[in-house]
Amino acid sequence: MGAEQVAERFAELYGAPPQGVWAAPGRVNLIGEHTDYNDGFVMPFALPHKTIAAVSRRDDGILRLHSADIEGGVAELRLDALAPQSDDSWTAYPAGVVWALREAGHGITGADVHLASTVPTGAGLSSSAALEVVIALALTDLYDLGLQRWKLARLCQRAENVYVGAPTGIMDQTASACCEDGHALFLDTRDLSQRQIPFDLAAEGLRLLVVDTQVKHAHSGGEYGKRRAGCEKGAALLGVDALRDVPYAGLDEALARLGDEEEIVRLVRHVVTENHRVERVVDLLESGDPRAIGPVLTEGHASLRDDFRISCPELDLVVDTALAAGALGARMTGGGFGGSAIVLTEAAEVDTRTKAIEEAFAKAGFTAPRIFEAVPSAGARRLL
Ligand code: GLA
Repeated sequence: MGAEQVAERFAELYGAPPQGVWAAPGRVNLIGEHTDYNDGFVMPFALPHKTIAAVSRRDDGILRLHSADIEGGVAELRLDALAPQSDDSWTAYPAGVVWALREAGHGITGADVHLASTVPTGAGLSSSAALEVVIALALTDLYDLGLQRWKLARLCQRAENVYVGAPTGIMDQTASACCEDGHALFLDTRDLSQRQIPFDLAAEGLRLLVVDTQVKHAHSGGEYGKRRAGCEKGAALLGVDALRDVPYAGLDEALARLGDEEEIVRLVRHVVTENHRVERVVDLLESGDPRAIGPVLTEGHASLRDDFRISCPELDLVVDTALAAGALGARMTGGGFGGSAIVLTEAAEVDTRTKAIEEAFAKAGFTAPRIFEAVPSAGARRLL
């Protein structure tokens, strides 16, 4: 699917060529899970899978939306009627971005939009962030808003939190907006300061596989919100603004202070150790030892499974099978309760690992997983 094709379809739908075509990618998170709403560290990278939007301005207060991937015709929304949590279909994501921009004082007066995406939905690969960011970038350009990338990510997060009603953090939107080709993004979610870390696995004879378990998940459901509320309770009990403020060296003491709040103890332990794992992975990559990140990824999985309790049998099976077959490391990635896992492996072993996982899924009677290689790719950009 190319930009020209998306532009042609736009012209068929709306009777004139678009004023521009933009793209925003999905992401994989290498390490740093459920740390973003605790003001912590994350390390995602952009996938080659992306959402493309052909867009033109309108000046009559109307937003028209069409997607090549979803059945149905052109949706037509009035900007002055946009209201948080009034829409439970896919159009809430682009409409939410328009709402957030207008609420922040930007004079958006309408748009025609046609979208086409290669980011798998419900797979933990940030299809919603890709959709939000591509709309925000297109409108930033068309309306000459001059918004910096981090600001654009914040507005997209607001669209998702308030308009859609999913209490997610800032990682996915920042990844889609700010990642660079060949790099992972080391992001401090407290102040959105960032560092691009070179991440060229192929040059090291390594590969990172994404295994989409095909178990669908949604973060507007209660479990994500419960974890978030538990973390906030932990921070309050410990008298800090966010769990980010609990130092790794002070973890035992902090846990002791939480006493018999067993569930909170588990959540706090995950967040504090996970922040530390992100820093370890950054150090290892910067010191040129990418193979050594494998065990850190695997530790992260154990923590999400046993402490944060957001894995599922399919994700655990990917990790266990990959490790038993000799992978360097493996973990679930994204929000959890389904979605995808990542597997770090020697390049020469890709076929063996893939086969082992496929066979294990067939034996367990699970739906066949979708397995592909993740190559760190470019963030959001204008294509035409
Ligand atoms: C989802 C959310 C992110 C983040 C991850 C877990 O992807 O959208 O903000 O919290 O889960 O790390």
